[in-house]
Amino acid sequence: MKNIVILISGTGSNMAAIVRAAQRQDWARRLDARVAAVIANRPDAKGLQTAREAGIATAVVDHKGYADREAFDAALQAEIDRHDPDGRPALVVLAGFMRILTPGFVAHYAGRLINIHPSLLPAFPGLHTHQRAIDEGCRVAGATVHQVTAELDHGHILAQAVVPVLPGDTADALAARVLTQEHLIYPRAVAELLQKI
Ligand code: GAR
Repeated sequence: MKNIVILISGTGSNMAAIVRAAQRQDWARRLDARVAAVIANRPDAKGLQTAREAGIATAVVDHKGYADREAFDAALQAEIDRHDPDGRPALVVLAGFMRILTPGFVAHYAGRLINIHPSLLPAFPGLHTHQRAIDEGCRVAGATVHQVTAELDHGHILAQAVVPVLPGDTADALAARVLTQEHLIYPRAVAELLQKI
């Protein structure tokens, strides 16, 4: 059985979409995979409750409790690896996880660490992607699922979804349009990758 660990910082709607997909019988049977745990770096992350309600184990590794990134990432890595009998899950999925990870952490999960970013990478890495797309006059926006490398919001692209930017769009309106597509492409990308691992 392949174990997936999902990392969140907030609402966790992408996490919930992946959990829903993984709990469908055909998915579990075809891929022999399950979401083993959802881990948040904030105790108040709303997605923790959603995960618990779906019967998924949860944990919090609060970044505020660590002196530096290295110490936090070491604790996070130990918590993640605890959820796999072989000591490292098949896939670690960042779903609205708003922490920059150290190169050592990224190397430990090389090839099995993925992220979703709310822009059409390589355009608009970083924050405030929707407002920046509107300000630039982009006619389209979207989301990207990609392998995580030590460089923020870089790495091989696994999936993308495109939505129109409409006249008069606010960042919130555009974000909501993009998010509905995220919920479609992320579970699909996770499944595709699991078939290759
Ligand atoms: C999503 O739009 C995701 O793409 C974005 O945060 C949101 C999380 O929503 N991620 C990033 O900005 C990462 N840099 P969710 O918690 O409801 O899945």
